[in-house]
Amino acid sequence: MTISSSTGYPRSSSAALDEPVLSIRELTVDLDGADKQPGLVEDVSFDVHANRTLALIGESGCGKTMTAMAVLGLLPPAIHVSGGSVRFDGQDLLDLRPRELRQVRGGGIGMIFQDPMSSLNPTMKVGEQIIEARRLHVDESKSAAAKRAVELLDQVGIPNAARRADAYPFEMSGGMQQRVMIAMSIACDPKVLIADEPTTALDVTIQAEILDLLANLQRDLGMAIMLVTHDLGVVADFADEVAVMYAGHLVELGPIREVFHNPQHPYTQGLLDAMPQGAVPRSQLSIVRGRVPLAGQFPRGCRFRTRCPHAREHCERDDMATVDVRVDHRSRCLLVQTGEMTLTPRHPGGVNGE
Ligand SMILES: Nc1ncnc2c1ncn2[C@@H]1O[C@H](COP(=O)(O)OP(=O)(O)O)[C@@H](O)[C@H]1O
Ligand SMILES: [Mg+2]
Repeated sequence: MTISSSTGYPRSSSAALDEPVLSIRELTVDLDGADKQPGLVEDVSFDVHANRTLALIGESGCGKTMTAMAVLGLLPPAIHVSGGSVRFDGQDLLDLRPRELRQVRGGGIGMIFQDPMSSLNPTMKVGEQIIEARRLHVDESKSAAAKRAVELLDQVGIPNAARRADAYPFEMSGGMQQRVMIAMSIACDPKVLIADEPTTALDVTIQAEILDLLANLQRDLGMAIMLVTHDLGVVADFADEVAVMYAGHLVELGPIREVFHNPQHPYTQGLLDAMPQGAVPRSQLSIVRGRVPLAGQFPRGCRFRTRCPHAREHCERDDMATVDVRVDHRSRCLLVQTGEMTLTPRHPGGVNGE
């Protein structure tokens, strides 16, 4: 699959200096079966850069996980990629064979999921699991891998790492299990880390510790992070770029300050208006009226129009795309694109500790 030149990405004049590590273009994913939904994820394009975090946000059911799974080649059986490209390390991941893709997963691209127990083997000591993860991708002796496993457990803040390497996952708390999964995800020095709701299952203080850990690891290792979250508080603290998804469409994309202070899509504005000013919100994004349509029932044209307070008849137009409405800031709203509607900037505050 090829990159379409019509999209015009990347736009930045410093593009050559700032090559993305992971570059997703026009990614489209279809759902087959009874609830058939062509374009379950449709025409999604964004870049993830070294040392930077892109947050993929939106309410539950908006297609964030399916986007991440498409990148990793881990889509469920009824769901498949029908178009687009995922460039990483000079290749299109969508062209790779399963065996080649397994080398990339856990190698150049690390991954962390919401539930550590879905990735950890309950019958294996955690040290052994890290040794195994490392030896799949790195050619080294078992003793060298064992030494590295203890270093990794130490690096992710597990006290008495040498002793804890001998523990089974069930002997650890949820926060410690999540640290073990992070140690596994970075075991092979990935260039990209894909983290899907990595803190959602944890209590608030542990959430903050895990996010601090990820930020420190990023600073030390220079990884690009793609962080999937429904939590705008996490985004405000942690992300550099934000990609907002609604019902399988990317509706807005831009630097975090731009998107938070000057949203250019009514859905983003709705999400932000639900954030208490000045406070760090930790609640579900449930304040935009109505619900995300179910797969199989996405409306034509703008998929948000059935909930949008500004919707007009022509929002049903089928040819809508995400375009630059400001420098480095894209929106899929037709009314914003045509100047029929102007969204007013919000008060600054709450972003990256401002
Ligand atoms: N295994 C599956 N089979 C069929 N549909 C699915 C499956 N997983 C998710 N979906 C549907 O795909 C859409 C996107 O889901 P998902 O990517 O999990 O959303 P998010 O991560 O943003 O909450 C939803 O409509 C969801 O119901
Ligand atoms: Mg999800």
